[in-house]
Amino acid sequence: MCGIVGLVAKDNCYSRILSTLGRLEYRGYDSAGIALLSEKGFSVRKKKGGVSNLAGEPLAGKTGIGHTRWATHGAPSDANAHPHIAGKFALVHNGIVENYAALKAELLREGETFLSETDSEVIVKLIARAYRGDFFAAVSSVCARLEGAYAIAVLCEDCPEEIVCAKYRSPLVAGVSCDALYVCSDAPALSGEADAIAAARDGEFIHIRDGKITFCDREGNRLERAFTPVTEQERMRDRRRGTFMEEEIFDIPRALSDTLAALRRTDFAPCARAMRSAGKVFAVACGTAFHAALAFKDTVEREVKIPVLCHTSSEFRYRDPLVGKGDLVVAVSQSGETADTLEAARLARSRGAYILAITNVARSSLASLADFSVAMRAGPEIAVAATKSYNCQLLCLYYVAAELCFFRHTRYPAYMAELSALPAAATAAFGTFSAMDSLAQRLQGAQGMYFLGRDADVRTAAEGALKVKEIAYVFAEGYAAGELKHGTLALIEDGFPVLAVATRADLFRKTENALEEVRSRGAYTALFSQCEAISESCADFKCRLPAVCEALMPIIAVIPLQYFALRMCALRGYDPDKPRNLAKSVTVE
Ligand code: F6R
Repeated sequence: MCGIVGLVAKDNCYSRILSTLGRLEYRGYDSAGIALLSEKGFSVRKKKGGVSNLAGEPLAGKTGIGHTRWATHGAPSDANAHPHIAGKFALVHNGIVENYAALKAELLREGETFLSETDSEVIVKLIARAYRGDFFAAVSSVCARLEGAYAIAVLCEDCPEEIVCAKYRSPLVAGVSCDALYVCSDAPALSGEADAIAAARDGEFIHIRDGKITFCDREGNRLERAFTPVTEQERMRDRRRGTFMEEEIFDIPRALSDTLAALRRTDFAPCARAMRSAGKVFAVACGTAFHAALAFKDTVEREVKIPVLCHTSSEFRYRDPLVGKGDLVVAVSQSGETADTLEAARLARSRGAYILAITNVARSSLASLADFSVAMRAGPEIAVAATKSYNCQLLCLYYVAAELCFFRHTRYPAYMAELSALPAAATAAFGTFSAMDSLAQRLQGAQGMYFLGRDADVRTAAEGALKVKEIAYVFAEGYAAGELKHGTLALIEDGFPVLAVATRADLFRKTENALEEVRSRGAYTALFSQCEAISESCADFKCRLPAVCEALMPIIAVIPLQYFALRMCALRGYDPDKPRNLAKSVTVE
């Protein structure tokens, strides 16, 4: 959730950290801070609010750390902003120290005082107390006492041009360029800075010293780690539109096209055994990725005729799931760092299940713990609200469903012959955007709204509703059209907006009937469909979707809804890239 960076560089240390923090800001934007180490000791600038608040006279030093925060312990404030300082040490932290209260009580008993309410300050206090002249040993010994999740970068005044970092259940990579050495929460934030990257694994340390980066275990024993070039996929693209979310929506055709090309190159043979003989098939994910997982369930049950047990990751891990040896668990996560999804996958793995990951980040924790990983090619997604990654998740999951058909000798799905049509159809969906703008203008003052659908369209409805809640701050619910009469109808009154998605021709009339029922009770109705019959519909607002085969329509039908949410957000005066209370990568439970 927070972003951390550490840097040893000959020059421009401050501005490099600042620009890296700018690229990390999507991970949290409550407060930001930088500490630089020079012969005069630490210079620190930290402020509540965004990274832009740190601009000003550059601080001096060739070694530095920086942080962008998503508050867990303690409200956003200058004092709670990182870095935290104790004695000769400065520290930035991403994660949660679950036993911080006990550790803090111990420190208070010993007479320590605290400047912040954070769990992170406890770590740096412990390091300062553990220090006996060996910087690495002090950090390592303290990490052995921490429970929870952490990626930390620490500076020591006795050790110029040295940074000690540790990783456990929060992401951390190291990067090198011709004149600088980096550590950072993610690879895309180092684009334009580092030429090659290597990711740390849980329990590992990264030690920058004597102009070199070393990966080591807790005793300081060197671990071999290959640095590989920053890939095209990891590179952040220049933003040409006003917001990242808009940029990312307009990137959907490219993302689909690249993902499809990558899927066609993927050899699924290593999955053959798991796919052929899996006793049970599970799908686990959170948020938007969960809607994609539900669409996977629909598709596999329809095409492969086997049940899929689909769970939100946070529920899966605490309900003693019926997962066991020989089961196949499909874990879906854009970031590959979502704590609940990682824990769900770890739990399933510990019980002998085979983990197939669908993720957008090839170097992510999920990709490295999975038995097999299907890499989406959405490219870095910076806006907090997922858009292009959802379209690509659906594509990957439909592809995986087809592989299941193949390995289980079921008829290969007809939609596989139609995949190439997706990028052009996504581009055609942009043609609905001016109508979405009008719809948003009409509904911008709404207090709430329903999104309806049947079968796969319920997933699209749920995803549309999530986007509206997330960035426009309007209550919205995605609902099965057939469920309306079982309670929800009571909420319908004059002008209440009900948006329905109807992409299955055989169910079109049924969804339309539901819309008629709310319309006759005063609701304002909008209908989204590619079916011819939409032209005769009485809905107050009609959106004709570009047509692809029905099975693939969820990939296209969601695009106008994503844009509608974006316009609602803009018209209501909010920033879609930084919705309140949220952060992109939910690396804490
Ligand atoms: C919604 C959104 C979140 C994420 C969820 C899972 O727009 O972005 O609901 O989908 O936090 O994140 P990943 O896919 O990274 O596991």
